[in-house]
Amino acid sequence: MNKTEQLETVVVIFGATGDLAKRKLFPSIYNLYKKGHLSSNFAVVGIGRRELSQEEFQANVQKSVSKLEVDEHLSEFANHFYYHPFDVTNRTSYLNLKDLLGELDQKYQTKGNRIFYLAMAPEFFGEIAGHLKQEGLTSTEGFSRLIIEKPFGHDYPSAEQLNEQIRHAFSEDQIYRIDHYLGKEMVQNIEVIRFANAIFEPLWNNRYIANIQVTSSEVLGVEDRGGYYENSGTLRDMVQNHMMQMVSLLAMEPPIKLTTDEIRSEKIKVLRAMRPIQETEVDDFFVRGQYTSGTINGEEVIGYREENNVRETSTTETYVAGKILIDNFRWAGVPFYIRTGKRMTEKSTIIIVQFKDIPMNLYFNQNDQNITPNLLVIHIQPNEGITLSLNARKSDQNFKTIPINLSYCNNCDDVVNTPEAYEKLLYDCMRGDATNFTHWDEVALSWKFVDPISHVWENKTDTIPNYKAGSMGPDEANLLLAKDGFYWWALPEAP
Ligand code: BG6
Repeated sequence: MNKTEQLETVVVIFGATGDLAKRKLFPSIYNLYKKGHLSSNFAVVGIGRRELSQEEFQANVQKSVSKLEVDEHLSEFANHFYYHPFDVTNRTSYLNLKDLLGELDQKYQTKGNRIFYLAMAPEFFGEIAGHLKQEGLTSTEGFSRLIIEKPFGHDYPSAEQLNEQIRHAFSEDQIYRIDHYLGKEMVQNIEVIRFANAIFEPLWNNRYIANIQVTSSEVLGVEDRGGYYENSGTLRDMVQNHMMQMVSLLAMEPPIKLTTDEIRSEKIKVLRAMRPIQETEVDDFFVRGQYTSGTINGEEVIGYREENNVRETSTTETYVAGKILIDNFRWAGVPFYIRTGKRMTEKSTIIIVQFKDIPMNLYFNQNDQNITPNLLVIHIQPNEGITLSLNARKSDQNFKTIPINLSYCNNCDDVVNTPEAYEKLLYDCMRGDATNFTHWDEVALSWKFVDPISHVWENKTDTIPNYKAGSMGPDEANLLLAKDGFYWWALPEAP
């Protein structure tokens, strides 16, 4: 981030009493403030249904950021926060908000710049966007931008409908659809690793890469989100967005320039080249799972069907593994395997690029077996970094090889100051940089890809639950790779 750039803006958060605001948004705004990216010309308006006094709201804000550090400027920061009780369906609420925004504009000299952040139930997105325009809240001399949290629709038709509603009020370049994975430091680094290093790009294709594995495993279960999860499942919650975004960054062509449009257009091409999965072949390409009770880190945990707000006979998936093929010149024949799930062994997001075997083994490893293929590991979280795994020889071992790792750790020295995804994305939006947000075309293509899979799964009521909490998922996920002669690499240690 450029330290000297300071931004004047009013951020309006719909859903300001919710979890996201508390856990991510307030701390992110605070960090931007602390780092000097927000001048004193900023205000945040919290919108919520419940009645809350100004003092209570500011106290909540202080509480949510005070975990970060003790700071004498905290109350000064919290003074920029205003609470506004609101009924999203009522026109008068918008007219009152408009007056408040006008006053704040004057008070903080924010030049009419407004960001509307919808951190709430998606069924209201269309209605809110429409009112913001109709009641004139977006007609200012500054910018008006809309940030939208997922889920963006439930399938392609509902996403399209939602998009049309929003587009009546905001143009595509005013809409910032959040995929918080795109704000992660090492996800942003995928492009840099690929396009700033002469040694990788020549190998980055089907002549040298055998397969790519993307794992995002979680230890937590659905917690208090059973109701949401029952309608979503892992395919919609994680695959349609985060996993497909990572695959498109791994597979895209080098953009001709590092501009939003050029990068997005290359990612869109990848999504267009993904081989569609027909309903009759879903089982050949995708595996779902649901966790039963089990033990994680020595603690007993309940199965998904016992969670709050989950049906006793639920067939909602809490795990997905899949094989994605990209039918273009660079990737024809190279499987991209993805897997993600709740209640797995560890919390980790890791990409492993497995290079092809060398044409002939002159050397063998210490167990007299063929040497291990070269692997490039991109550690997304919790550790951030890269590891390149090579084969070498230890002295006195003659022709025996051992794998050695060349590693770089991005957050080992300074975990605290690595900016969080939300902080980076909010800052990008304030600066008008939409590169790390999802374009409508990406949303549409990803829904079209996953819809046949969810359609088949919704009509199939057998086969789950099928993996124990604390495991790496159902056996079928291993068979998926075994059919191709591969296996999931164990999740590597920190770089
Ligand atoms: C969210 C999903 O988008 O991503 C959650 O809704 C999931 O179910 C979360 O837990 C994972 O994000 P992260 O950053 O913890 O990997």
